[in-house]
Amino acid sequence: MHKREKPRTYRVKSFGCQMNVYDGERMAELLAEQGIAPAPDGEEADLVVLNTCHIREKATEKVYSDIGRLVKRGREAGREPMIAVAGCVAQAEGEEIMARAPAVGMVVGPQAYHRLPAMLDHALAGRRSTDTDMPEDAKFAALPRRRKVAPIAFLTVQEGCDKFCTYCVVPYTRGAEISRPFADLVEEAKRLVDAGAREITLLGQNVNAWSGEDGAGHAVGLDGLVRELAKLSDLARIRYTTSHPADMTDALIAAHGEVDKLMPYLHLPVQSGNDRVLKAMNRSHTAEGYLNLLDRFRAARPDIALSGDFIVGFPGETEAEFEDTLKLVDAVGYAQAFSFKYSPRPGTPAATMDAQVAREVMDERLQRLQARLNRDQLAFNEASVGRTCDVLVERRGKRDGQWLGKSPWLQSVFFEGDAAIGDIVRVRLADAGPNSLRAVRV
Ligand code: 5AD
Ligand code: SF4
Repeated sequence: MHKREKPRTYRVKSFGCQMNVYDGERMAELLAEQGIAPAPDGEEADLVVLNTCHIREKATEKVYSDIGRLVKRGREAGREPMIAVAGCVAQAEGEEIMARAPAVGMVVGPQAYHRLPAMLDHALAGRRSTDTDMPEDAKFAALPRRRKVAPIAFLTVQEGCDKFCTYCVVPYTRGAEISRPFADLVEEAKRLVDAGAREITLLGQNVNAWSGEDGAGHAVGLDGLVRELAKLSDLARIRYTTSHPADMTDALIAAHGEVDKLMPYLHLPVQSGNDRVLKAMNRSHTAEGYLNLLDRFRAARPDIALSGDFIVGFPGETEAEFEDTLKLVDAVGYAQAFSFKYSPRPGTPAATMDAQVAREVMDERLQRLQARLNRDQLAFNEASVGRTCDVLVERRGKRDGQWLGKSPWLQSVFFEGDAAIGDIVRVRLADAGPNSLRAVRV
């Protein structure tokens, strides 16, 4: 590498989960603080951060092809973009990336991105650097403050995973479970609300495993944090994602019946409806245990919208075992769900298990599963027609005078009339489609 000029513009390209999107936004803020401006849409940036995801598919290959494309486009334009690789692929494959892709000047893992400005200085001096350390919590302390935010904000409260599901790479890329301190979170939530947030989604890979100590020194769980945040008068809505069935507590379930600001929506991944497969996945719950848990949520909050994650074609999954997943779907009636073909992740136990399922079989199972999930999503939306509810306005719609926002059940809702971004508007849901509803103001 040689000495470089300071980049004038940056672009952060984030892939994967909301947590990665949150990290991407924070990296953008760090770069902005260095006096680097976001590249205008459609223009090449001087510095590109690829904020990668490692959870499924050929993530690593995608990173190399993205790098290749950036280098090629740069060459055509007679310039050399500065490239940083961040996120979970950086964590898992950092050294290999450095060895294989000389165009990459910085590799920064998800727990180290607060060091990006220092790494940038190194890059300017012509030195490449890798930082994939996992210091607890340090990155959050180094974050700049956000002055103005969208009405819907995200707040990372917990990171990492100790569950070691046999298919999953997260415990290796994001490290052990850590909870950010209660006081820091309350403080950051206040700042978000002051900056314009009306809804906060608490984020964590195992968000319901969050634990802390309140101001009086008492141990609190996620329910306690939710109750504390509900006291912020300008905050209207609280959500949290993603949860694990093993960490669910009576207190959090009860909060759904007691805290009005806690929205009636639960994302609780199950992955499979078959107990043998669940065991092989090291999920620590059975299908029945999961269904019982959902019943308790429904008892606390009868209108709660349920969401889940599924994997089809886990090694050894038979047709009959897959059908148990379909049965579970029928039993639950999800409002929304995410389903994936199993993807072997290097270094995870499932990747080397016998009886990997053929791609065609996975394709066919995924189609059948998604047909049911789509059916249920439409049914949920149709059953909402006639309901009166609040919509938090997020942006303008395509048509003049049209606004888009979310219902309490996380449905996309559009309506016409006088409103502004950040308003909470009372509507009656009038028409349902698979992905959105039309509403009229009341
Ligand atoms: N293959 C397919 N899907 C996976 N997920 C996690 N790891 C894998 C994998 N190896 C899915 C799970 C998880 C979601 C975030 O991604 O359903 O809940
Ligand atoms: Fe992808 Fe998981 Fe990393 Fe999020 S935490 S970026 S989903 S691998």
